[in-house]
Amino acid sequence: MQKYRKNSLKYLTLVVILIIAQIQAQDFNYINQGSDWGGTCTSGQLQSPIDISDVQGSCDNTMNLTLQLSNQNINTQILKSQVLSSTTPTGQYWSYLYASNLDGVISGYQSNYFSIHSPAENYLNGSQPDVELQIIHTINPNFAQTLPSQGTEPITQFAIISIMFSINDSATSTFFSSYDPTKASASSANAPQISLNMTQALSSLDLTSSYYLYQGSLTTPPCTESVNWYVYSQVQPITTAQLSNISIYFKGDLQFAKGAGNNRPLQQVNGRTIKKGNIQCEEQFIHFFSFFVIYTFLNFFVCKML
Ligand SMILES: *[C@@H]1O[C@H](CO)[C@@H](O)[C@H](O)[C@H]1NC(C)=O
Ligand SMILES: *[C@@H]1O[C@H](CO)[C@@H](O)[C@H](O)[C@H]1NC(C)=O
Ligand SMILES: *[C@@H]1O[C@H](CO)[C@@H](O)[C@H](O)[C@H]1NC(C)=O
Ligand SMILES: *[C@@H]1O[C@H](CO)[C@@H](O)[C@H](O)[C@H]1NC(C)=O
Ligand SMILES: *[C@@H]1O[C@H](CO)[C@@H](O)[C@H](O)[C@H]1NC(C)=O
Repeated sequence: MQKYRKNSLKYLTLVVILIIAQIQAQDFNYINQGSDWGGTCTSGQLQSPIDISDVQGSCDNTMNLTLQLSNQNINTQILKSQVLSSTTPTGQYWSYLYASNLDGVISGYQSNYFSIHSPAENYLNGSQPDVELQIIHTINPNFAQTLPSQGTEPITQFAIISIMFSINDSATSTFFSSYDPTKASASSANAPQISLNMTQALSSLDLTSSYYLYQGSLTTPPCTESVNWYVYSQVQPITTAQLSNISIYFKGDLQFAKGAGNNRPLQQVNGRTIKKGNIQCEEQFIHFFSFFVIYTFLNFFVCKML
């Protein structure tokens, strides 16, 4: 009896230590701008965010991004730790997504979580927007996945839809009118409920506009490298007043990260492919076609001369 109790006490201590270790692994901050995060965050080669400037692929007909925003009024809470975030109640989702990866393989995803970083994490052609909304989708195994013939394609766990905002005082952000950051709390126990209709909140976003696709990671520990990023190129407006209601927690709070925001700094691109989707293909086709015509003519004359 005595021995049994001693053993279970040991076991309990081990479990407690493991739980504490687990919690600490999730515990991170921006005090050193992520340079102290370790693990994949340090050793990874496909880390996010990046500067989206050297776009190598565009006008690719295999690219597909079909985002369906939730049309329901979802009652949620805004939590503030290192980011502002919201999670849906069980069984409800912010959005559903069908999207192709760099090889044109389409997968289905769903999202019950989004987070807000300010200033933005990814850059658009060298410039940093003021806010980045990241809707984090996880793969839905129930959606059929069109695997390539070899079937060797590794499954990408996450698809993040990124929406950028920058100050434009002649337009109000519909998103930050419904999602008031000042309603954020440190714990869900005392956070007020807000009603958020994603379709309404993002009504100014043109879901058929162009976007960039690249393969990367989560921007917070454990920096898992299993993310397809879909970054809309269209920057949404946010007023100075709306932005300051976000900034009070991050860049405007000297206690937060010594005056820095909750954005992870840019990571090495390491030669990764960045593709641009939803752009008109006709123009490129005409260019290609005219080159083809000239080439045929030249060949014809060169052959005649010989
Ligand atoms: C994108 O994929 C979805 C799901 O497979 C499909 O319903 C849709 O027609 C595709 N869109 C385009 C433009 O290919
Ligand atoms: C990116 O910025 C450079 C100058 O900073 C400009 O020459 C180039 O056209 C821009 N590219 C795109 C795709 O906007
Ligand atoms: C700011 O918003 C107004 C109104 O929507 C728009 O006309 C203008 O082009 C925007 N300015 C910039 C720099 O995006
Ligand atoms: C959500 O917003 C959309 C767009 O404004 C609207 O059509 C829809 O009826 C709203 N949903 C609910 C449940 O109110
Ligand atoms: C900023 O927060 C205050 C509450 O502290 C709120 O009254 C105000 O409407 C917010 N401003 C904007 C532009 O959302």
